[in-house]
Amino acid sequence: MRIPVIAGNWKLFKTIGESVAMVQELKSLVANNQGVEIVVAPVFTALSRVNDVLQGSNVMLAAQDCYWEEEGAFTGEVAPALLKDAGCSHVIIGHSERRQYFGETDVTVNKKTRAAIAAGLCAIVCVGESLAERESEQTFSVIETQIQGGLAGITADAAPHIVIAYEPVWAIGTGKTATDAQAQEVHTFIRQLIAKTFNQPVADAMRILYGGSVKPDNVKGLMAQPDIDGALVGGASLKADSFAAIASFNA
Ligand code: 13P
Repeated sequence: MRIPVIAGNWKLFKTIGESVAMVQELKSLVANNQGVEIVVAPVFTALSRVNDVLQGSNVMLAAQDCYWEEEGAFTGEVAPALLKDAGCSHVIIGHSERRQYFGETDVTVNKKTRAAIAAGLCAIVCVGESLAERESEQTFSVIETQIQGGLAGITADAAPHIVIAYEPVWAIGTGKTATDAQAQEVHTFIRQLIAKTFNQPVADAMRILYGGSVKPDNVKGLMAQPDIDGALVGGASLKADSFAAIASFNA
């Protein structure tokens, strides 16, 4: 009942030309994929051109961040409506790299999430604990704080426009994937939090993605877990063949 989402976060990689070439290859590789939403998130400067290439395909477009104001004197920022204008249907919010290097907090995640939904985008809201937090058994409390803060004041009718991505920081770019059971355990916890925050039907419908060293050879095991509804993929999303293989986990 929950349609899985396989999203590629390209981070700070690829020129416009490289991005266009990649999606040209990708869209034909996944043209017959069914029962999965496939999303790519290039850098801002490539969005519009990538959108042109994706017209008529089954691959959707995401940005990697947004601001919460519609317009104004906010040098360097990009509003959700402008992402829509560039062809985006999704936006990644609160990625751990933004939390770690760019001062993102649960408060700004909340503002961005509300603004993204108001502009008609699907917000992919990222949460996840660091290695130190996991080792000191704070995983659940960290996730709870991030979910409660990030989704504060958002009503149940907006919830269908939210996808959660659980990305343990220690598994990002390290080749160290959470085990299927470790990921499932946190996903179950997140679904319970969603039920508490909204209600059970919202929790049952919410897609919760796993991210952190997802590869073609570990995606099936992760996707077999009852509460894992997709993947947010970094490194392995940069090549059309490996990302297409991940997006074909159900083939
Ligand atoms: P990797 O797949 O490279 O570990 O990155 C995960 C990630 O941060 C996706 O947002």
